Amino acid sequence: MSRPPTGTPIAGAVALVTAGNRGLGRALVDELLERGATKVYATSRSSQRRRDERIVPLVLDVTDDASVAAAARAASNVSIVVNNAGVQLGTPVLDAPLDDIRSELETNLFGTIRVARAFAPILASHSSSAMVNVLSVLSWLALGRGYEISEAAAWSATNSMRLQLRGQGTVVTALYVGCMDRDVTAGVHIPEADPRDVARQAADAIVAGTFEVLSDDVTRFVKSQLSRDVTALYGQLLAAA
Ligand SMILES: NC(=O)c1ccc[n+]([C@@H]2O[C@H](COP(=O)([O-])OP(=O)(O)OC[C@H]3O[C@@H](n4cnc5c(N)ncnc54)[C@H](OP(=O)(O)O)[C@@H]3O)[C@@H](O)[C@H]2O)c1
Repeated sequence: MSRPPTGTPIAGAVALVTAGNRGLGRALVDELLERGATKVYATSRSSQRRRDERIVPLVLDVTDDASVAAAARAASNVSIVVNNAGVQLGTPVLDAPLDDIRSELETNLFGTIRVARAFAPILASHSSSAMVNVLSVLSWLALGRGYEISEAAAWSATNSMRLQLRGQGTVVTALYVGCMDRDVTAGVHIPEADPRDVARQAADAIVAGTFEVLSDDVTRFVKSQLSRDVTALYGQLLAAA
């Protein structure tokens, strides 16, 4: 029988953040600790020095089944999992080698699914638990590259995971982010969000059991346009070819 979703306490919890060594992942690790998590597994693909007694560095490559299984064995008591690992290779959809686009899907889509599958039974052992999937506003806005394909696919996968894990008391939160620290839009300027602010919103969502976080104005605007004509987001279609 399914239970109604509730938020997951961070104080006293053990969490895992993939790619928790830098960027948004590091900000998420710090925010979880600030809110009272007793231990946070912070993964990266290479071994890291321990910068805080409460942070346990873990080597994890989300494209590798054995690596994900080993991480799940090592972090077998987590009630919070954050799928933050991601790559952006700058792959024009009609020109890049398909293997490069596959490689983005392998990390951003299949990597997230792999981690979700491995950790779902662990999360199920807690009365309430949380999975946060870090996604991009580019799940909803194509700029012509494989990255957006992978983020759109991960958006759909996240919706499926949320439905499937609801019955075990795990709330799956999609955390949509615009641009944080670099120009992801290949020449188009959009305001940069502060990873610490995004991390605070993610922590609030874990505690509240929120399904979606639109973390900045750009993301909120793009989502608001999705039910309009396709030219609302792709105004260039109206210009002469
Ligand atoms: N930066 C932005 O403006 C922006 C905007 C929207 C969404 N996002 C999303 O937010 C997340 C974090 O972005 P970020 O900019 O903070 O990260 P980042 O600085 O680009 O670093 C990417 C992280 O992903 C890890 N990673 C890459 N491939 C991996 C794999 N196969 N297995 C495990 N880890 C892997 C890297 O690990 P290593 O340290 O081992 O290389 C690194 O820690 C990503 O999912 C990204 O798509 C970012």
